[in-house]
Amino acid sequence: MIGVKKIAHATYETPDLDKQIEYYTDILGLNLIAKEKDAAYLASTIDHHSVVLRKGGGERGACTRLGFQLGPDDDLGAFVKQTEGKNIKVTRKNDPEPSIAEMVTFEDPKGTVMEVFKRGEFTHQKFPQKGIVPHKLGHVAFFVKDVKKTTDFYCDVLGFRVSDWMGDFFSFLRCGVDHHTINLMGTGSNRHFHTAFELRDWGHMLTACDYLSLHGYKLLWGPGRHGIGHNLFCYHRGPNGLITELFAELDRMNEDLGYFEPRPWHRDRPQRPKVWDNAVVAQIWGPPPTPDFLRRK
Ligand SMILES: [Fe+2]
Repeated sequence: MIGVKKIAHATYETPDLDKQIEYYTDILGLNLIAKEKDAAYLASTIDHHSVVLRKGGGERGACTRLGFQLGPDDDLGAFVKQTEGKNIKVTRKNDPEPSIAEMVTFEDPKGTVMEVFKRGEFTHQKFPQKGIVPHKLGHVAFFVKDVKKTTDFYCDVLGFRVSDWMGDFFSFLRCGVDHHTINLMGTGSNRHFHTAFELRDWGHMLTACDYLSLHGYKLLWGPGRHGIGHNLFCYHRGPNGLITELFAELDRMNEDLGYFEPRPWHRDRPQRPKVWDNAVVAQIWGPPPTPDFLRRK
């Protein structure tokens, strides 16, 4: 089957557009590439945009769309056929967003719009000089009503693979070497959980925590190391109320061998996809999450 090869961007509706732009540029350190009256495009390096902000939504922001990139040899028409073959209504658009010539869109089971396209041109902007400056948009996590159905959708329609399950309620899905690009936690409601950006290493995370603190952003959880995925992590809330994770050292899959690249902190040797027992594996060290992080509403 034709599967997506990476997450390209995420689109958020946000109540105060200017405040959110300021956060993404001055704090996170993304480039503001284009600004329209009610929208902004923000990027890190070769993609024209990694984050799209649109004015709207309720008090809190919402993640409404996810962009996924196909490979250079994948045929968009064949992908449409494949998707329609699964009884999914697909819309095809020309020039839908800056730098994207042709895109197909359809909804996932929780109503988030999937935008699938081939990258025709790269934008060669440099990494910015101010703010945290992550390597890339790494993953987006959602609370979902039906975790099994939504997990199956990402695997069957978009070609994701299951990297791990926490019990039967939290799936971690990959579409490339990174342990997870989408995570889905069954909580009985559909909404954004967190958006994660990749940092270089522990030193970068230390600098990021200091930088967040200096600018009045409190950590909701971390720094610590997760069990599943084994990434270093810390979480904070952006101005629109949505949670941002910063991470480093996420497990990387060797697809041909079927296990994650060995690391000294792994408990399994080799570390393979599995069902983890319980919530204790959420972290192998670090402080416990704050009540604010655990808030599900
Ligand atoms: Fe995460």
